[in-house]
Amino acid sequence: MKILDGKKVSNDIKNEIAEVVSQMKENGEKVPHLAAVLVGNDGASLTYVGSKVRSCKRIGFESTLIHLPSETTEAALLKEVEALNNNDAIDGYIVQLPLPKHIDEEKVLMAVHPDKDVDGFHPTNFGKMALDMESFIPATPYGIMELLRRYDVDTQGKHTVVIGRSHIVGRPISILMSQKGKAANSTVTLTHSRTKDLEVFTKDADIIVSALGVPDFLKGDMVKEGVVIIDVGITRVPDDTKEKGYYITGDVDFAQVSPKASYITPVPGGVGPMTIAMLLKNTLLARERHNNRKNA
Ligand code: GUN
Repeated sequence: MKILDGKKVSNDIKNEIAEVVSQMKENGEKVPHLAAVLVGNDGASLTYVGSKVRSCKRIGFESTLIHLPSETTEAALLKEVEALNNNDAIDGYIVQLPLPKHIDEEKVLMAVHPDKDVDGFHPTNFGKMALDMESFIPATPYGIMELLRRYDVDTQGKHTVVIGRSHIVGRPISILMSQKGKAANSTVTLTHSRTKDLEVFTKDADIIVSALGVPDFLKGDMVKEGVVIIDVGITRVPDDTKEKGYYITGDVDFAQVSPKASYITPVPGGVGPMTIAMLLKNTLLARERHNNRKNA
């Protein structure tokens, strides 16, 4: 069993980006600038956004955090989005999800200009991704692909079973892994809450991508020997014995599944850190494309 070490690989990627940024500075060029909009005080979102902003600093990006109160109206948020679209200093930005219930998430994501949509959530980017065109690929599936590529995991002709059909992970990773290219060319089955006899699929799978959000869901007797496991679940389980009052766990029962796996991502330290690294990568791409449009 080999660990797919997302922490290490994400650090490698950040170092590579930092190298590019330091070259940009030396050349007197503008460095990438990422903005993040956070509405409200959801604990996990605060952690993620804080981590994104800290990572920007570490690699030499500029960053702006726009933290709005939870009672912010949809109209006020749309105004912020419009201002970010029109702000030439900002190369890319994200609106952290989930948004408070009174705000129509789809409406907000549709308002993000596709050229600045470093989350890759806008239909223009999602459509282009599905058609093999240049786009921004959502950071989590992009991170999974990069992890598989860097560990040379053989995916060609393999049966990949994706658990969960979310717009952020399940749906896009099922598209990416079925496309041509490295870490792809897979035969993909996309399973979800209405799938009958899920075990029939997981037991046949060469590769399992689980993006369900149910702790310890995937058990040892549900997988075959040699399986590659990508665990996207990040659930906070309340635990008074921990300093933070919770511990983080994935969808996969690591103790049961890891002895049977050829490769496996740990939680934490697997897919999570890769998501941040690929958001930074997208921001670098946004900066380069922004520059190219200006010089065109
Ligand atoms: N919430 C959970 N994951 C993500 C993500 O990748 N981007 C944004 N904007 N919000 C999220």
